Amino acid sequence: MKEKVHNTVRSAFLDRFRQEPRVVSYAPGRIEVLGNHTDYNDGFVLSAAIDHGTCVAVSGSADGSCTVYAVDLEREVTFEIAAPSVSESDGWANYVKGVAALLPIPSRDHGFHATVTGDIPRGAGLSSSAALEVATGLALANLYGLTIAPLEMARIAQRAEHEYAGVRCGLLDQISSLYGAEHRLIMTDFRSLAVETVDLGEDLTFLIAESGVRHALVDGEYNERRAACESAATYFAERCDHAVSALRDVSELDLETCGGDLDAIAYRRAAHVIGENRRAQEGRQVLGRGDVQAFGALMFQSHESSRLNFENSCPELDLLVEAAAGIPEALGARLSGGGFGGGCVVLLRHEHLAAVSTALQDAFRSAYGRECAIIEMRPSAGAELLS
Ligand code: GLA
Repeated sequence: MKEKVHNTVRSAFLDRFRQEPRVVSYAPGRIEVLGNHTDYNDGFVLSAAIDHGTCVAVSGSADGSCTVYAVDLEREVTFEIAAPSVSESDGWANYVKGVAALLPIPSRDHGFHATVTGDIPRGAGLSSSAALEVATGLALANLYGLTIAPLEMARIAQRAEHEYAGVRCGLLDQISSLYGAEHRLIMTDFRSLAVETVDLGEDLTFLIAESGVRHALVDGEYNERRAACESAATYFAERCDHAVSALRDVSELDLETCGGDLDAIAYRRAAHVIGENRRAQEGRQVLGRGDVQAFGALMFQSHESSRLNFENSCPELDLLVEAAAGIPEALGARLSGGGFGGGCVVLLRHEHLAAVSTALQDAFRSAYGRECAIIEMRPSAGAELLS
């Protein structure tokens, strides 16, 4: 799959700019497996880079202009490397501009030509935007001779998302894209930013069942949830007998003993994040001893907490998770990422892929009278330069 995307981005570059690209980079999307909305609360997440990603091909330009052609969208934007500015109509291009603006490029005399393509299903919550940011970052860093450590690259990509796309995301998507490893999950502590990978075993895999739902106001909902978590952390800082700088510092016992004056919604939002932090850490432990059933159970619990406490699910995702709970070969299922639509991630053994897919599709069709796209997502290696 990577090879196909690589070939497409190269030949599109050749067609459009009549030359070979100097650099081609690749960055995968990600699935979030346990730990939902915990990253910006200094918490823990288990995630994986997937075997679907974005390629960016670049070469320097003779003057300060930049031209970026998106193969899949058949759209092109131009801007000056000295002043990449946000434009609402540009959408995808704002991620490229943001990264170009924020990279510490010493002299901005020369811009670049670029083509972009990928095979991450859009709207499925698989972080195609982070993949675009990271792939752009790697390609441009190489083109401009910059040495940038992975964590710094993740931060630049995150800032691009904050400042150029208006979403106050955490670092999960960018870190997952950069630190992926084949057949392994990524465990990140978002306070220390320590990242380790955990073996999943070759026979275990994931599928994404697309709900086909994309909430129109998803970015606003995301920022609103983040603000609710931050004010809940301030509440606990004033009441707990220990230091609290983020919900990471609040235990389930603290919630029970000090949470009484929180309003009902803030209480549920905090309960979700606090529970998710525990589940991500427990997940890491049970996976370490190979207890896949226990791991899957944590995924189902995570979804239940999204549905009831964080209210970032939707009926279509709930139906998919409920259907998965009734399929013995589906070991665990939950929403993945921001929520409010997107895909349902299901843990299963590779040999059961066809059976589980059919059962989920049947359940979805009988409830909604339409098809639900299902794609296998194998935990895969992280971002890299291809040439
Ligand atoms: C989105 C954000 C991430 C993270 C998840 C929820 O994917 O970009 O930073 O907050 O939602 O866990």
